[in-house]
Amino acid sequence: MQKTASPRPTRTVDAGLMASLAGLLREWLPRQRWFAGKDRPVTDLALLSMTELFPGCLHLLVHAGHSAVPSPGGAPPAGDCYQLLLGVRQHLSPRLGKALIGRAEEGPLAGLTVFDALQDPRSAQLLLDRLRHPGTAGPLRFEADPSVSLPAGLVPRLLDAEQSNSSLVYGDAFILKLFRRIQPGVNPDLELSGALARQGCGRVPAPVAWFRTMHPWEATLGVLQPFLRDASDGWTLALDALASGDDFTAQAHQLGMATAEVHLALASAFPSGAHAENGRTAAAMTERLELAAHFVPALQPHVPGLRTAFGTLAACDPGPPAQRIHGDLHLGQVLRAGREWFVIDFEGEPSRPLAERRGVHSPVRDIAGMLRSFDYAARQRRPWRPEWARRCREAYCAGYALRAGWDPRKKHGLLRAYETDRAVYEVLYEARHRPDWLPVPMAAIERLAVRGA
Ligand SMILES: Nc1ncnc2c1ncn2[C@@H]1O[C@H](COP(=O)(O)OP(=O)(O)O)[C@@H](O)[C@H]1O
Ligand SMILES: [Mg+2]
Repeated sequence: MQKTASPRPTRTVDAGLMASLAGLLREWLPRQRWFAGKDRPVTDLALLSMTELFPGCLHLLVHAGHSAVPSPGGAPPAGDCYQLLLGVRQHLSPRLGKALIGRAEEGPLAGLTVFDALQDPRSAQLLLDRLRHPGTAGPLRFEADPSVSLPAGLVPRLLDAEQSNSSLVYGDAFILKLFRRIQPGVNPDLELSGALARQGCGRVPAPVAWFRTMHPWEATLGVLQPFLRDASDGWTLALDALASGDDFTAQAHQLGMATAEVHLALASAFPSGAHAENGRTAAAMTERLELAAHFVPALQPHVPGLRTAFGTLAACDPGPPAQRIHGDLHLGQVLRAGREWFVIDFEGEPSRPLAERRGVHSPVRDIAGMLRSFDYAARQRRPWRPEWARRCREAYCAGYALRAGWDPRKKHGLLRAYETDRAVYEVLYEARHRPDWLPVPMAAIERLAVRGA
């Protein structure tokens, strides 16, 4: 990997900086789509790392704590570390009005305007330049695949999608995903897409450049990949098909095959585990259910029925061996370009600890995620079309079986338990982020609880 000295001076953590930023960020952070702590007040903000990436642009890692809120089971105080790129200027041009965070009143930035630098095309361009020239900036390490040459001058635009991270598209040629919630360690989105590309698996856009920090611990911060220009995501395609009354089973079948290809490539790239230990998995699922019911009272009446579904899992045949999986597979994580499906966003569920996300799991978990997604799509329009979802599920499983050599439909108990676990996750997610959507997973919960009982 080519390394050059940083072309710009960098500063290390400036303890006084939060005097300027804390008040502004306390207001701004909870309004961001990717901020996970919306349902809890931010009680403390701490600066973990600060690097002046280029003049007028600060790269920060900030810990947002919610310590006034008691953690269930006496767990450590709740909170998350976030990556921020802040611009600092005397005046912000009106064209950047939407990027405004506020005017600092105190501390070293007093009197200056602070804004979200990702919304500023000039800053976004300088960020790509950093990736084009591998090297270091303070604790940050910029790295690239030496076989790929990144052109200069690509015009950036910030993707305006419902995202848990932030993505910049450069000249419709590359997409840079900046992870927002940062945990120590390698992010599986880089780890798995890189490994799949090295396996020759054509189902993922291969990473071409990335950056990470070494302070306060090592962590992946962003990944640049080729942008699939004319792609549509599976969610949009499914909703279009539902709206026009079109069949989606051919696409679902191909998607099942694509999922199996990714699973096979992951199984070759990483050591697999023994057969999944269903007893331990069932115990973990039950624990997650109880935790979710603690936060979402609507779940409570269904707990006994759902517990039975997990009890059945403990007695099931072990199913396929545990292996590295996608971890958060649904229709929004697949793109169709031409006649091919691509799989993106291998980050796993960002709310789960990184060590767990980087562990081995049953591939049934991914399959259950996609099956739940067909159900979500079918519930977007009234009247609900359960037949549409059922046919997609069948086709998807048949496609999977064709490539994988085993049929998910023959693993009833496993599939039901993983679907239940996924629906419990969805309930918690929707309750926190999109309460209007809560009825969608709750309908599945009601169905699965009755079947479990
Ligand atoms: N390689 C790509 N080509 C085209 N669009 C992409 C690509 N990667 C991501 N996208 C778009 O960005 C969206 C969000 O990407 P994703 O990796 O799922 O981010 P997040 O972690 O925030 O969910 C996708 O739904 C898709 O629309
Ligand atoms: Mg995603």
